[in-house]
Amino acid sequence: MYIAGDEEIAAIAAAIRGKALFRYGVGNQCERFEQRYAAYLGVRHFALAASGSNALAAAMTAVGLGPGDEVLIPAHTYMASATSVLAVGAIPVIVDIDESVTIDPRALEEAIGPRTRAVVPVHMWGAACAMDAIMEIAARRNLIVIEDACQGVGGGHEGRKFGSIGHIGAFSFNYYKNMTSGEGGGVAVNDERIAKRVRCAIDPCHFYWNGRDETEMPFAGNGARASELMGAMLNVQLDRLDFMIQAMRAEKRNILQRTAQLGNIGLKPAPMNSPDHDCATQVMYTLPSADAAARFVKIVPSVIAGKTGRHTYTEWDQILLGAGAAHPAMNPYNMPANAACRRTYSKDMCARSLEILNRTVMVATHPEHGEQDTADVIHNIAIAARVALAGLPLAEADLRRTAPVDVQKFDMPADA
Ligand SMILES: Cc1ncc(COP(=O)(O)O)c(C=O)c1O
Repeated sequence: MYIAGDEEIAAIAAAIRGKALFRYGVGNQCERFEQRYAAYLGVRHFALAASGSNALAAAMTAVGLGPGDEVLIPAHTYMASATSVLAVGAIPVIVDIDESVTIDPRALEEAIGPRTRAVVPVHMWGAACAMDAIMEIAARRNLIVIEDACQGVGGGHEGRKFGSIGHIGAFSFNYYKNMTSGEGGGVAVNDERIAKRVRCAIDPCHFYWNGRDETEMPFAGNGARASELMGAMLNVQLDRLDFMIQAMRAEKRNILQRTAQLGNIGLKPAPMNSPDHDCATQVMYTLPSADAAARFVKIVPSVIAGKTGRHTYTEWDQILLGAGAAHPAMNPYNMPANAACRRTYSKDMCARSLEILNRTVMVATHPEHGEQDTADVIHNIAIAARVALAGLPLAEADLRRTAPVDVQKFDMPADA
């Protein structure tokens, strides 16, 4: 959570005092947010859900993915990108990332097989995927593009907001995201028929409250309806979003400008796909080696992208184990319809991604950092780079105390 305070408390209190906690016929906070956020993204429809995982599964359901389909996902993402593919009965195929820590378009194209129907570009850590290349490949190879914008709230690729560029986009509003209601998520889409299917996937009973719509056949699904408390908080958070993103972009620019000369000793900014438009929640550097990255993160509060303990395919137990569902008959890995899909994984299958991730470090920005906070971060990055890359003895490192970093966001190991 970045910023939340009296305004959020007042909005939630008003929903409780008004006894308006149900989104249909009682409250109007969810509906108001959906309309405002759709306009913010520049899409026709936005549907709130209980989580980003639900939103991804609803998006995949709505576009018609199912058994027999392969979906390409990057080697570096939160496991929900992959489990949501399994939730609709399809099979995730894991693809290398590049130094932007997002899916490598060349690897994506090489990975397309006869069963591949969709790809999930994930704007990881708020950094943009190479959307122009991805959309071009998708158009040429007839793939559905489901943007996982769970970590990309408020960011964009060039002039367009994340989640509005592909055929459909999914967001998370959990505690760690740029806009939060504790938990929450939602789906952005332009196509009206798909939007109806999304709403059915999120709440198969929604027509009891909203009225039946004879133009679209309902189907069964698991409920993931949003609460008015969520809508109330998100309406306030949306008002903060642009200020926050602008502040983080300014801090990132400042840090990158004032650490540029450290490129001489090997501290290079990671190549970003849309550096002026992404979320700027991190400043990412690619170092020459994993050892140098390990030395760097010991000195400055930062994390190695490949060592968060949960964001790389080697940590996705259920995928690696082929445990695609609780009941064996519902497990996509066992389904005859998936017999021709690629269903095996190994921990070294994306060795190139691991090599990149283990030498990529991230320093978090924060919208409330003042000039002195940023100056302290820059000072410490320079010291860490000299220790990690130029042999400065640790005893001579004159570090400054910096604003605390939310370590759980990255699941940093205790000794990091
Ligand atoms: C890239 C990505 N996809 C999906 C999700 C799932 O979102 P949620 O935790 O709201 O279910 C997350 C959450 O951390 C995420 O980071």
